Amino acid sequence: MINPALAFGRRFAERASGLADERMSASLRRRLDEAAPFAAVDLGEGVRGIKPSPESCELFRARRLPVIAQGLASGLARATAAAAREPCTLHHGDADVALLLEQTCFGRRIREDADGFVVDLTHHENLPMLPGFFSHGIKAHLARSNGRFEVARIDIAGHTIARGHPGWPLAKIHLIVGMDNETLFADHSVVHLHNSYLEAAARRTLPAHNPVALFLQPHFGVAIPLNEWIFERFHKHASVGSPFAHPVASILKLVRKGLQADHAAGLATRPVDTAYARAQAHAREVMRAHVEAFVNDNVREGAPEFDQIRAFADAARELIPYVPAGRELTPALLARVLTRFLHEATFASSGDHVVNREVVGFYRSAFRLRRPFTPDARWRPQDLFGSIDTFQRVVFRDVFSGDVCFSRLADVEYDPRLRLDLDGLRRGLAALEQRHPRLFPRDRIAASIDI
Ligand SMILES: [Fe+2]
Repeated sequence: MINPALAFGRRFAERASGLADERMSASLRRRLDEAAPFAAVDLGEGVRGIKPSPESCELFRARRLPVIAQGLASGLARATAAAAREPCTLHHGDADVALLLEQTCFGRRIREDADGFVVDLTHHENLPMLPGFFSHGIKAHLARSNGRFEVARIDIAGHTIARGHPGWPLAKIHLIVGMDNETLFADHSVVHLHNSYLEAAARRTLPAHNPVALFLQPHFGVAIPLNEWIFERFHKHASVGSPFAHPVASILKLVRKGLQADHAAGLATRPVDTAYARAQAHAREVMRAHVEAFVNDNVREGAPEFDQIRAFADAARELIPYVPAGRELTPALLARVLTRFLHEATFASSGDHVVNREVVGFYRSAFRLRRPFTPDARWRPQDLFGSIDTFQRVVFRDVFSGDVCFSRLADVEYDPRLRLDLDGLRRGLAALEQRHPRLFPRDRIAASIDI
């Protein structure tokens, strides 16, 4: 029986936030329920999710949900206090924006086009939003100074706003919020999905004794059921930890764009040079050395197991088109694929969570605005948010931002049949922690595909 006080509180919260939950369509729910474990299911807008196995759901319920529940309980207490202290805190000074572009995953979105270096969020224009919230198609033009990127001007709502304009602070707030949504849905979610795709391909094609299965197994955690759980949360706008203003279809549009961009770039991505990109390149080298040590000592192209690995590549290629076809696979290409995914799972995802929490808060945790941009508006920051927005974003930042790393390198142990030890990787990680203490804080790297 539902506690009447809880039901009342929930109705109040929904009304206070102006948000009503979306119902996951019955047909999608049925397709998810009826799919075989590790099958790909279209979630909408062409984005495919992976159906978890009963065992992985059980593992998620037993090991991950209690951690989330515990975090939520302590996070709610912290958030209540913090939200009172920071009713509308948003660091949007020029130096803050420069820091975001240079030191965090925001930098992944810097592109060079005919206009020079830009952050292009023009596809956010006309993106359907929940009632009462706004987003704009924004293009930020960047200038490089002393090796750092600064925002020189911002195209927004048909206007070009430059430093000194009265609307400059508000234009930057809209830019930060747009970037928050872009990096979360078009970048971070792609890492989540691709790791699910790779795990599904491995589970469907590789016998347990195959060396690639033995190598990947310790890195598989609960990414697949976690992703399904997150997707269900996206339908529940009024829940305490949901600070988003996009309906699910809009979230999926951003995810699809991120997937398309990633697929177009392929295995050889070339990020624009920032401190964040340089640190991630060092991290990728550490993972490459580890993967190559595994491949060199355990994978032979002529061995029968390599035919299974070719089938694995074909299955992965159904979901990630730049994975080489099985017939073209070589040990060197296999190493590139495994490096890419282990690096992203280990460093890109945990980097997003940890750094953005400890340095700037999880993506600044501002995902929605209650006022549109107009160049002559005199909105103060507190006019842009409701108190429920602050509360929800603080809960989100504090609870879902990697405060508790589920898997550490300590959890990773390889089957003795593999001729591979972890010492080299451990040394590599220790060196990274020393070299980039801000991006890779000590003992905070989750060297696992469980993100
Ligand atoms: Fe994540």
